[in-house]
Amino acid sequence: MALERTLSIIKPDAVARNVIGEIYSRFEKAGLKIIAAKMKHLSRKEAEGFYAIHRERPFFNALVEFMSSGPVMIQVLEGENAVARNRELMGATNPKEAAPGTIRADFAETIDANAVHGSDSLENAAIEIAYFFSTTELCPR
Ligand code: PPS
Repeated sequence: MALERTLSIIKPDAVARNVIGEIYSRFEKAGLKIIAAKMKHLSRKEAEGFYAIHRERPFFNALVEFMSSGPVMIQVLEGENAVARNRELMGATNPKEAAPGTIRADFAETIDANAVHGSDSLENAAIEIAYFFSTTELCPR
């Protein structure tokens, strides 16, 4: 088992629903530690930069618009197999296909407002963490 770090974002729809605490509780119960966190209202430019890898996809504009529509809660999670464990907790990208008991099944309804983001690989996790946090902001324990 490898100790990993991953980037998680609670998206504007879930922040607006006031379920940050419920989602944090799922991370903690799954053995993931929150080692850094910040609430932020992303500018369009910040959202475009974060999702640059998806620039050519048809939903890019809608995604950027949505992610900059209200505050998000951004956190670094640390734990055994954190990348995959967080993706399991999140459920499928489309909430309609997400397994019962996952965050997206419980807190989201549509693919364009699907409650949470989680890094999809260890390599992307390192890039995404560095996009929002300096190393001095990480508090492993
Ligand atoms: S994933 O989870 O990265 O494998 O999913 P993927 O299908 O590659 O989607 C990448 C991100 O785009 C979001 N997405 C959409 N946004 C708006 N409209 C539509 N139709 C749509 N389809 C996918 C999806 O939620 C992913 O965002 P993040 O923040 O990475 O979860």
